[in-house]
Amino acid sequence: MEESKVHVFKSSSELLEKLHQKWNSVDKVPYPAMYSSVYGGIILDPAMMVIPIDDHMVHRGHGVFDTSIILDGMKFHLDIKIPFHPKPQDFFYFGRYLYELDGHLDRFLLSASRAKITSPFPKSTLYTILVQLAAASNCKKGTLRYWLSAGPGDFLLSSAGCPTSAFYAIVIDEEFSQCKEGVKVITSTIPMKVPLFATSKNVNYLPNVLSKLEAEEKGAFASIWVDDEGYVAEGPNVNVGFVTHENELILPFFDKILSGCTAKRLLELAPKLVENGSLKSVKTANITVEEAKGAAEMMYIGSTLPVLPIIEWDGKAIGNGKVGDLTMALSDLVWEDMVAGPETHRGEHRNRVLAFGTRTALEPEPPVPEPIGTGSGSHFFGTANRRIPAKTGSTVF
Ligand SMILES: Cc1ncc(COP(=O)(O)O)c(C=O)c1O
Repeated sequence: MEESKVHVFKSSSELLEKLHQKWNSVDKVPYPAMYSSVYGGIILDPAMMVIPIDDHMVHRGHGVFDTSIILDGMKFHLDIKIPFHPKPQDFFYFGRYLYELDGHLDRFLLSASRAKITSPFPKSTLYTILVQLAAASNCKKGTLRYWLSAGPGDFLLSSAGCPTSAFYAIVIDEEFSQCKEGVKVITSTIPMKVPLFATSKNVNYLPNVLSKLEAEEKGAFASIWVDDEGYVAEGPNVNVGFVTHENELILPFFDKILSGCTAKRLLELAPKLVENGSLKSVKTANITVEEAKGAAEMMYIGSTLPVLPIIEWDGKAIGNGKVGDLTMALSDLVWEDMVAGPETHRGEHRNRVLAFGTRTALEPEPPVPEPIGTGSGSHFFGTANRRIPAKTGSTVF
């Protein structure tokens, strides 16, 4: 038998050439930009989007993560001097923004503190890096995933030998749209995580992966976890909600599961349907499996969905087995909130505007409108309450 000989790369340029061959052969690179605190900047070359193997997150699962959505905003007002005879383009610009970034960053830092990981940067710097990364990526629709890790150092169990924690983030250019088709789910037989681990978003997602695979093997979209007291918990990477036959919207308490940013926003928006008489009430509560299976409507709730109707559970129809009207009304509320952009929030500015004009160093500078008089060299754009520097010091490799 001929022995297979393992190739030894003689130089980093030889290795890089091989990696570039791989990426050059794909139609579209799905990862337009990555940030790494280990590199200290933004990387545009997918071949270099790597993390060290001695990072505690890689070999011990000592890391936490979160995900935000990048979306094209609708028209919003630019904070620029308005010419005497303004043209429409002087007022508005189709922007990109990060949905609910603040909430995601708060949860991210909470998860990190529970995992005894101290972020290398304060929240404001994490925020600035993510905005610049998203702008440098030029991605108009996709996801922004980010991680805090104990950092590289050694392969031991304790992270005492990892001197500096690490922050990584990547932009994934991907298409998603409002979910309108109903899906089937099963009860997961994979044990759910105990509250300490389920309530924080750490990288130990093996139970979640196995739970999703189990559902797929059984012809379902995903699964539902039921806790040790028999109450409905959540899906493998989504929250779950129910509409009763009395038109009450009920979501399980968040004390043993991940406090979903989308679910929390849904709970803020849903009272609009109470005001117009469609829903009777909105609440979080313990829901038994029996009550849940007897609901009129059921849905998954999560960042990229944002609401996904569920029409069948363990082979039994939910309600009439069709996509529920109230589920779709709730879905419309969140979807409109996502796509509408910052202007609709009347000063809340929940959706962070990406800086118009922020470009990577590899691209020619676009013509920029004259900024409000803050002196030469300071170019600020965005909404009045949340102005973002168009050019700041982040390095682009
Ligand atoms: C276990 C789990 N539950 C719920 C969610 C939904 O959270 P969000 O709405 O913030 O995406 C997620 C998201 O990844 C998750 O992993």
